Amino acid sequence: MKKVITYGTFDLLHEGHVNLLRRAKALGDWLIVGVTTDNFDLERGKMNTCNNVMERIEAVRKTGYADQIIIEEYRGQKIDDIQRYGVDIFAIGSDWEGYFDYLKEFCEVVYLPRTEGISSTQLRDEQPGVRLGIIGTGSIAERFVPESEVVSGVRVTAAYNPDQARCKEFCKRFGIGLAARTAEELYAACDAVYIASPHYTHGAYTKAALEAGKHVLCETPFVFTGAEAGELFALADSKGLTLMLAHKTAYCPAFGHLVTLLKSGAIGEIVDVNASVTTLTDESSEKLDVKLFGGSMSENACFPLLPIFKLLGTDWSNINFYSKMKNGVDLYTKAVFRYAAATASFQVGLGAKTEGNLTVSGTKGYAYVPAPWWKTDYFELRFEDQNQNKKFFYPFVGEGLRYEIKDFVATVTGSALTWSKLSRKEIVRMADVQQLWLSGTNVFTL
Ligand code: CTP
Repeated sequence: MKKVITYGTFDLLHEGHVNLLRRAKALGDWLIVGVTTDNFDLERGKMNTCNNVMERIEAVRKTGYADQIIIEEYRGQKIDDIQRYGVDIFAIGSDWEGYFDYLKEFCEVVYLPRTEGISSTQLRDEQPGVRLGIIGTGSIAERFVPESEVVSGVRVTAAYNPDQARCKEFCKRFGIGLAARTAEELYAACDAVYIASPHYTHGAYTKAALEAGKHVLCETPFVFTGAEAGELFALADSKGLTLMLAHKTAYCPAFGHLVTLLKSGAIGEIVDVNASVTTLTDESSEKLDVKLFGGSMSENACFPLLPIFKLLGTDWSNINFYSKMKNGVDLYTKAVFRYAAATASFQVGLGAKTEGNLTVSGTKGYAYVPAPWWKTDYFELRFEDQNQNKKFFYPFVGEGLRYEIKDFVATVTGSALTWSKLSRKEIVRMADVQQLWLSGTNVFTL
C-alpha cells in the first residue's frame, strides 16, 4: 500500500485545499493529512487563523479525501511522522517548491500545482473585521500598529491625539485613513478603541468610548481605584461591550504555560512570589511627573502584580510599601504582601535599577524566569536534585502585542475559542493596589 502524507493549516477550507487533497490522494492508496494545532500556529507567529483546530480537522474530514488525520504540533514532526507511519510520498503545494527537499532523505517529495487565485489569507482579508481607533500616538501605539497588521479581522481606521500635528504625522507614517480632530470623530469611524494615552486619562476615555458604544482595549495601568474599575466593567456589561486590559504578559503563551504548570503543582505548594520591573528613566520624563500620575508604581506595578495574583490570588491580608520619593513621585517602590499561606513581593523603579527576574518558590522546588520575565520566552524549574531541573523555551514573536490583539478581536467578534487571560477581579484588584499606595496606606517613604 502506497502511503501519502500532506500538511496544512486548512483555515477557512477552500477550493485550493480540496484540489490539493484530491491530487495528493491520487498519488497513492492511503492519505494522511496533518493539521497544525492552534498552539503550533501561535508559536510560529501565525496569529490569524479564523477556525480552531477542531473546526479545521472537521473541514478536512468532510472533503472525504483523508484516510487518516493527525495533528502537527512541533517543528521537525514531519520527519518523525514519515518514519512512524511508513510514508512513501510527502506531498505539498508548489508554493513550498524546494522548501521540503530535506525530506527526500526519508521519502519521495512531490510538489503539487497550487490553485491560483485563492488562499486562506485572501478569504480572511475579505471578512468585514473590526475597525479599530487608537487614542494616543506615543511609543506603545507605534509598536501596536505593526503588530495589529499580523492579526486577521482587525484594521486600524483612525487615530486621535489632541496634538493634531503629531496625530497627522502618526497617521501618515502608518497609513491610517483618519487623523481624527476630536475623540467623537474617532468613535464615529470605528467599532473598537485602543487607549494608549497618558495614564491619568485612561478612565475618562474608557468611559466615553463605552458610552459611544465602542469596545475598549485599554493600556496599563487601567485606573487608580478599584471602584472606578468596577463601574467601567458594569458600564461595559450594560452596553454588551468588551472591555479588556492591554497587558501583554497576560496574553503571552509562555507566561500562560508557566502559570498552568505551577498551578498544577510542578514545584509543590507555592510559598513566595517575587518579581521586579525597573526602567531607568530621565527625571524630566512625563513618566516621573506627579501631575500626570507618574512614578514607578503607576508605570510598572501592573506587571509584577500579574504573577502574584495569578499564583496566589487577590485576597492578600496586608501590603507594606517602601518607597524612595523625589518631587512627589516614587523613584523606586518595594511592596511586600502577606497572604494566608504565602508571601509575595515586588520591586518597581524608574529611578533605580535591579535584576528584572521572576522567582516563584514552592515546597518542592522553584521557578526562575530571567529578565525580562514580562516578555516570557524561557523559564526553568529547579529542584534540590539538579537532575530534575527542567528548561522551557518558547518563541516570543515580534513585540508580543499580537497575542492580546488576537484575543481582543476574538472576544469582540466571538469568532474563536478564547477566554479572559486576566479576570475582572484581577484588574479591579490591580487598581486597588494603586489606590492603597496613592492613599498612603502602609506606605513607608525613604
Ligand atoms: N494550497 C493550494 N492552493 C491554494 C492554497 C493552498 O494548493 N490556493 C495548498 C498549500 O500549498 C498546502 C495546503 O494547501 O499544501 C495547505 O495550505 P494552507 O497553508 O493551509 O493554505 P493557504 O490558503 O495557503 O493558507 P495561508 O493563506 O494562510 O498561507
